[in-house]
Amino acid sequence: MSSFATIEPGRPLRLIQVGAGGMGKAWLRTIKANPDVELVGLVDLDLELAEAAAKDHGFDSLAIGRTVTEVASNSRPDAVINVTVPVAHHAVSTESLFLGLPVLSEKPAAPTVAEALSIAASAEAAGQLLMVSQSRRYYRNLVAYKAAIGQLGDVAVLTNQFFKGVHFPGFRETMDFPLLIDMAIHPFDVARYLLDADPVSVYADSFNPPWSWFAGDAAASVTFEFAGGARFLYSGSWVANGVETSWNGDWRASTAAGTALWDGEGVPRIASNTENESAHEFAAGPEIPEEIAGSLAEFVRVLRSGEEPSGEIHSNVHSLAMVEAAVLSATTGQRVLIADVLDAAREKAIAGERRADVKQVLVS
Ligand SMILES: NC(=O)c1ccc[n+]([C@@H]2O[C@H](COP(=O)([O-])OP(=O)(O)OC[C@H]3O[C@@H](n4cnc5c(N)ncnc54)[C@H](O)[C@@H]3O)[C@@H](O)[C@H]2O)c1
Repeated sequence: MSSFATIEPGRPLRLIQVGAGGMGKAWLRTIKANPDVELVGLVDLDLELAEAAAKDHGFDSLAIGRTVTEVASNSRPDAVINVTVPVAHHAVSTESLFLGLPVLSEKPAAPTVAEALSIAASAEAAGQLLMVSQSRRYYRNLVAYKAAIGQLGDVAVLTNQFFKGVHFPGFRETMDFPLLIDMAIHPFDVARYLLDADPVSVYADSFNPPWSWFAGDAAASVTFEFAGGARFLYSGSWVANGVETSWNGDWRASTAAGTALWDGEGVPRIASNTENESAHEFAAGPEIPEEIAGSLAEFVRVLRSGEEPSGEIHSNVHSLAMVEAAVLSATTGQRVLIADVLDAAREKAIAGERRADVKQVLVS
């Protein structure tokens, strides 16, 4: 990745939030609770919604408008939080970057890998940070689970089982691949974090159980091969009937030395290869801000220090590529190489890029 401009410590970071919908309201609460940041502007295409959300969350003197450019002109922001719908992410993130503002974007970075690569190149051309908020990377017991795995050595097989029965009124119930596109990016991204590696290939089977209330596939079974040879096996369903897992799913890591388990909530468990069926609790993780409070805290920290955040766009593109490659595999019935998905996306991004400076970064 390229280096990015840092912001001096000693005062709260001045933020503009874009998007005041469902998740936007969670962000307003999170920003309000963090003394290291100050909300100075709120943007939404729906001005009435933005005004009501600002009032409901106790923000009385905010600049409010329909675009970042308009609101930035009278609020002296340091950075932007992009909580718009995925199809608006590219436009809002690149507008902000070229105003000289670093961006913390909700996942996914964009609906396609090609658009995400264009955002990554825009961040380079603008010399600004774009970090994707993968909120499910921030749990004290996920930190503990990674430490437990570290104690056991190289992972040969990592599995995640995700079973929830959820009714979502709205877009998810009409999407073609609701589980893979809207949800699976979380465990896919966490697998990259736990394995400290990027994926090489994928084979995916996606299907819709007979009783499903989703129009598209609400269940999938996916196998990734990672660099170094580890396999990540994901099986998930959004129409589970009872005995649900946690929202993070059930994790299991197998190594030559033993097994580490995490139910996605509590303290992880660990067993050496001589302790069959007698896994014991591993130490709890450190107290950390969790979920979006965790990504906001990391965003503030790296903007002051210049460190690379875990969701830096160039790295996060690999998590999005896992989703796109899994959908391609499920559609074609073929094993798909992640490098092929990235190459095709880069060609598409170059062909579609309107800015000469961004195109130059993509070509180089
Ligand atoms: N991390 C998580 O666990 C999690 C959970 C839910 C949603 N999300 C993500 O949060 C994002 C927002 O989801 P949501 O559920 O709040 O959607 P939403 O539809 O409830 O709200 C999106 C808002 O963005 C506004 N908007 C759309 N285009 C815009 C533009 N060009 N400029 C300004 N405003 C614009 C809309 O008017 C709307 O108010 C999505 O990327 C979604 O994937 C993440």
